[in-house]
Amino acid sequence: MPSVASKGPLAGILFEMRTWVRCMLPYTPYVAPFYPTPDAVISRVLDLTATGPGDVLYDLGCGDGRVLLAAARRGARCVGYELDPQLAADAEAAASAAGLAARVRVVRADAAAADVREATVIALYLSDHGNSRLLRAVQSSLRPGTRVASFYFPVALPGWSEALLKADRTDGLAVYVYKAP
Ligand SMILES: C[S@@+](CC[C@H](N)C(=O)[O-])C[C@H]1O[C@@H](n2cnc3c(N)ncnc32)[C@H](O)[C@@H]1O
Repeated sequence: MPSVASKGPLAGILFEMRTWVRCMLPYTPYVAPFYPTPDAVISRVLDLTATGPGDVLYDLGCGDGRVLLAAARRGARCVGYELDPQLAADAEAAASAAGLAARVRVVRADAAAADVREATVIALYLSDHGNSRLLRAVQSSLRPGTRVASFYFPVALPGWSEALLKADRTDGLAVYVYKAP
């Protein structure tokens, strides 16, 4: 199946619009549309969380896999959860094309079902509601001390504001880094 990116800019915009609409449907499991993190912000997320060899990074809602690939290039093992089959396929194909398939696993499923006990770093770019819903859902397997980075949206759950390590607002684009309580 051709990737979203290969279909051209107009198809890309229409695809993104479709992902916005499905987030508004009642009872949808989707907690965020597809909107990829800019490359400069991905580097910042990985720098701020000191992601490197020995880390296991989970991206809950991994989109086309760009955060996974960047972390794998730094030597981390990566797991991405993605509900959208097209995006999950794009992420898998991108990992294979980059020769990183051995370090990147993509799960086509609701990230609310993720078991994150092996994660040392969790990357999020979702929504206020998405952060709350998914972090609450994975809480039983989330190890205290896991580094959690959220682009744009802070975590609004009880106990998390005290767990904030850094709020980096370079270029006006906020990245919040927590040590999971
Ligand atoms: C804003 S995009 C971020 C993509 C990627 N993490 C990045 O930073 O480039 C959010 C992604 O989360 C996915 N998503 C939303 N709800 C989800 C859920 N419950 N489980 C898995 N993926 C989900 C969407 O399909 C979308 O690809």
